[in-house]
Amino acid sequence: MKYFNTEGSCKPKEHYMVNLDDRLGYIKKMLVDRKKYFVINRGRQYGKTTMLRALAEYLKDDYIVLSMDFQMMSTANFADEQTFAMSFIGYVEELVSSEKESMEIIHAEALQALNSLKNQEEKTIKNMFQYISNICRKSPKPIVLLIDEVDSASNNQVFIDFLAQLRGYYLDRENRSTFHSVILAGVYDIKNLKLKIRPGVEHQYNSPWNIAAKFTIDMSFSSVQIAAMLEEYEKDHQTGMDVAKIAEEIYRYTSGYPYLVSALCKYLDEEIPDREGFGHSGDAWTKRGLDEAVSLLLKENTPLFDSMVKQLDQY
Ligand SMILES: Nc1ncnc2c1ncn2[C@@H]1O[C@H](COP(=O)(O)OP(=O)(O)OP(=O)(O)O)[C@@H](O)[C@H]1O
Ligand SMILES: [Mg+2]
Repeated sequence: MKYFNTEGSCKPKEHYMVNLDDRLGYIKKMLVDRKKYFVINRGRQYGKTTMLRALAEYLKDDYIVLSMDFQMMSTANFADEQTFAMSFIGYVEELVSSEKESMEIIHAEALQALNSLKNQEEKTIKNMFQYISNICRKSPKPIVLLIDEVDSASNNQVFIDFLAQLRGYYLDRENRSTFHSVILAGVYDIKNLKLKIRPGVEHQYNSPWNIAAKFTIDMSFSSVQIAAMLEEYEKDHQTGMDVAKIAEEIYRYTSGYPYLVSALCKYLDEEIPDREGFGHSGDAWTKRGLDEAVSLLLKENTPLFDSMVKQLDQY
């Protein structure tokens, strides 16, 4: 049986969730198919990882998708250019080492790249990109690169150099193969990176990421989308709730902030029915139950709200 999830990204088979298909279709058509490079830049718990994973799945028939998470790389991996170049190629090799037929060709290529770079005296990001370019050229399908949690890298000079190479190849894509589309996700806006890294001299440099397309998709949930999720829940549980009304109320409290939507639903499903004054789940999924859930949420999530407020300060 499915449940409402508030820990980490949501999976369609395990969790009640807002359906993302419309957004995924739009992102594919308007951005990925058009070879765009862009950043998904939203606050904590805004559904970025959930969206990236769903997107990877959605794109996999037409593309080879490399899904990375920079949180999986340790600080040491960013220590210097050599280490980063080796780690990055190593990561790529690991990602394409699956059994799938479409991966075989590029796996061989990635392994070769890894070995060549290992043996090269200059393990620079520039050299690494030449190998990446080979992988992209030989790939049977265009390669889309997704990187989640880019913030873990963003204070590093090597990451700036990496972005600069991405940009260089992007601009020269007619002549040299490279990633078809690149999607980075994080909390902070990468365009402002150089300000952090080289204070005072920013005007001398082009932002390494000034090629990025705008990502304007609203990632919050509308009351109609929330209602569709509740509809599915209602089919399984028959609480007798007024779905449209409860969805609207949830929206009113949360403005559709993904974590808050799921968190309120989780309380209504798992905790409110057991509280005094509520006999069963039919009592919980009401305006009264929702008020109770909101006060629980406010009581129990102070650290998250603190961080949300801090993020708002930064925008
Ligand atoms: N499609 C969805 N439907 C319902 N709830 C969702 C959905 N996407 C995200 N959420 C809610 O938001 C929470 C956070 O999702 P996710 O981990 O994808 O966000 P994130 O932006 O990657 O967070 P972080 O910035 O902490 O990495 C989930 O645990 C879930 O409660
Ligand atoms: Mg995430």
